[in-house]
Amino acid sequence: MRAIVCRKYGPPDVLELREVEKPTPKDNQVLIRVHAASVAMGDCELRGLKVPFEWKLLLRIGFGIRAPRKKILGQELAGEIESTGKNVTRFKKGDQVFALTGLHLGAYAEYDCLTENAILATRPANMSYEEAAVVPAGGLHAINFLRRANIQPGQEVLIRGAGGAIGTVAVQLAKSYGAIVTGVDRTTKLDMIRSIGADHVIDYSREDFTKNGKTYDVVFDAVGRSSFSDLIQSVKDDGYLLLGNPGLSQLFRGVRHSKNGKKVLRWTGGYPVQDLVSLRELIEAGKIRSVIDRRYSLEQTAEAHGYVDTGEKKGNVVITIH
Ligand SMILES: NC(=O)c1ccc[n+]([C@@H]2O[C@H](COP(=O)([O-])OP(=O)(O)OC[C@H]3O[C@@H](n4cnc5c(N)ncnc54)[C@H](OP(=O)(O)O)[C@@H]3O)[C@@H](O)[C@H]2O)c1
Repeated sequence: MRAIVCRKYGPPDVLELREVEKPTPKDNQVLIRVHAASVAMGDCELRGLKVPFEWKLLLRIGFGIRAPRKKILGQELAGEIESTGKNVTRFKKGDQVFALTGLHLGAYAEYDCLTENAILATRPANMSYEEAAVVPAGGLHAINFLRRANIQPGQEVLIRGAGGAIGTVAVQLAKSYGAIVTGVDRTTKLDMIRSIGADHVIDYSREDFTKNGKTYDVVFDAVGRSSFSDLIQSVKDDGYLLLGNPGLSQLFRGVRHSKNGKKVLRWTGGYPVQDLVSLRELIEAGKIRSVIDRRYSLEQTAEAHGYVDTGEKKGNVVITIH
């Protein structure tokens, strides 16, 4: 089968189209004919080791010292089940699914095997494969945090990084809970953020929301690389600060913080498959849609990575494979 192989950490041209062996499902696995995958910022960060200094060593230990041990990147996909292992009961041949491959990666290929208990579910009936493929990674992260913040109608929610994969779902989720939503991102993404329902937008290159004196019931930081003290002062008493992409110091400060009833939530690790099902239900109810900026073919994956590296991506970039 055709797949994109990552030769080593580096710029987009470390990604090469190669002919590799088609995987065979184990007894508890399904074989998915991949129709679409995404180029998430996380894929580019892994490919280029573009992470804060403190995470670099950990990433090399986890993923491979000189090159990723998992040669085929791609953390989310949508496709059709082509065959199943003999112990699989949840899925059958022909089911149309979407999935987070996560640390298993492997989506930049014509086929991938996942265990039936992976974060895998029937794809939303009202979405194309491309639209469905860009939901799991950002969507699961967004719902994992916002669900725990118990957002009530009329509450004020600020999403930092609202124009990205996590942020575009977070804005729509917060709106579906009845919140008044402020999206923060770069100038060129603000119209799109308004178009998915944000009530207010802030251009981070012109205004620092942590310095304008306004406070929110919930502040969701999907970006990271920010000061914990700045973020927490933008949270109302009894409100929530959601650290969607914390650095080590943010994590540490978050653990110790307990002032004025402000609650700090971090990612608890892992995502329940039920969250993917909840996302599908919200999509089918018309509450969430995918924002796709550009589409590329499998052969153009390196080019797609180059585009995502520029930071200009609005929402998501998708790779069409079949
Ligand atoms: N997707 C996941 O499942 C997941 C899970 C855990 C952690 N993460 C990590 O979380 C981060 C965000 O993920 P993502 O997939 O949403 O990335 P993304 O699609 O690149 O979105 C991030 C957005 O934040 C914007 N941004 C950058 N600096 C900002 C600032 N100072 N204020 C407000 N907005 C700013 C970016 O715009 P610019 O164009 O200006 O950069 C971009 O629109 C990544 O580092 C990723 O690895 C992702």
